[in-house]
Amino acid sequence: MPTLQENLLNCLRDAHAMECHAEKMLKALADQLSDCTEIKARLDEHLLETMDQQVLLETGMKRYADCAPTQVVLKDPPMIFAHAVERMSLGHEALKRAMTGYVLETIEIALYTVLNNAAQAAGDTELQAASERILLEEVAMAQWFKEHLQEITQAFIKTATPPDA
Ligand SMILES: [Fe+2]
Repeated sequence: MPTLQENLLNCLRDAHAMECHAEKMLKALADQLSDCTEIKARLDEHLLETMDQQVLLETGMKRYADCAPTQVVLKDPPMIFAHAVERMSLGHEALKRAMTGYVLETIEIALYTVLNNAAQAAGDTELQAASERILLEEVAMAQWFKEHLQEITQAFIKTATPPDA
């Protein structure tokens, strides 16, 4: 049975792997939406938040460096969800990426809620504060994806080739 500290380390490593994946996904999506200035600006903003989050998680991991992780960190934790979205017939990579972004933010909300509770149980007030801050950023970004999926879809429908062209 892992200790509270080992559980925290496992959770931190998963969160860090997820944020590394999120960084790549956000960069690719922002590049694909470079013509949509406001959407790109919000994606770039969350990209910076994501990189800050990685630093906060790395700081937490250093505090538990003496603990042995009790599980192998998932190399690409959200890929199982990304693959589910990729199988859909949406036709455009950016739409799939935007949907994956929404799914990813929702998973992050769940993960940081667990991390926050685990930090509280272990008496790690620094990590508790960090996870609360990250959680607010993820909730805001999930809401943004929800509100802007239609706009992103419209942007790509406009550029799609009509069937009789
Ligand atoms: Fe995020």
